[in-house]
Amino acid sequence: MLGKIFKLVFSFVDQFKASLVKKSVTLKGEGQVFVRSTFIRLADGSDKNDIVIGDHAMISGSLISENHGKITLGTYAYLRENSTIGAVNSIIIGDYTSIADYVVILDNNNHPIHPLDRKIKSSSPKGSDYRKWRHSESAPIVIGNNVWVGSFARICKGVTIGDNSIVAANAVVTKDVPANAIVAGNPAKVVKTDIDQVSRVFVENGNN
Ligand SMILES: CC(C)(COP(=O)(O)OP(=O)(O)OC[C@H]1O[C@@H](n2cnc3c(N)ncnc32)[C@H](O)[C@@H]1OP(=O)(O)O)[C@@H](O)C(=O)NCCC(=O)NCCS
Repeated sequence: MLGKIFKLVFSFVDQFKASLVKKSVTLKGEGQVFVRSTFIRLADGSDKNDIVIGDHAMISGSLISENHGKITLGTYAYLRENSTIGAVNSIIIGDYTSIADYVVILDNNNHPIHPLDRKIKSSSPKGSDYRKWRHSESAPIVIGNNVWVGSFARICKGVTIGDNSIVAANAVVTKDVPANAIVAGNPAKVVKTDIDQVSRVFVENGNN
């Protein structure tokens, strides 16, 4: 009996937390989005219009927008636990794109490059303007449709990844990736091309 009551309470708490998350972002389409253990941070002027999530997306990681950095997740996009997407500029993630756990996608360096600038940042009080991400270099990231990003990968500022490609686990992607390719390693290099030509696993059922 007590177990059932706890389950019910946890389910209400989960639903309440999910509703708060959904209120902090803009939902596209019919707003059918699944969120669980999701963390949203809007800072340095950002608001809910800066994070746009497509229908049927499943989001479990952290979405951080500063300085009106745009984060767009497509229809059926998937972000697993402990992954972080952080934007001061723009990060676009296409339809059907799956991002595994412990992935980091950041369109900026977080810290300035010059040593004295970093000293000023570190010694400034919390909340100070000097601590904002917008003072570090940034460039937009575009991840195409139906891309699969493996666990512990990192996608760096300015990268474009073509449709259908795969980023292998633990890769650090610093340069553009063509469509239908696999990249691996640090820095990531193409290890396979034309993966749209490999033999299929599933029989056609009208949903291909
Ligand atoms: C890339 C991946 C999908 C394998 O694809 P595949 O077509 O079977 O590729 P192969 O195993 O034939 O590997 C091709 C080459 O890439 C290398 N490679 C594969 N994965 C690699 C990785 N993570 N890091 C470095 N090199 C890697 C292989 O050693 C091989 O190199 P070689 O040609 O010199 O022998 C798989 O290795 C991977 O990283 N999957 C991600 C799994 C994951 O993170 N899941 C989380 C839940 S969604």
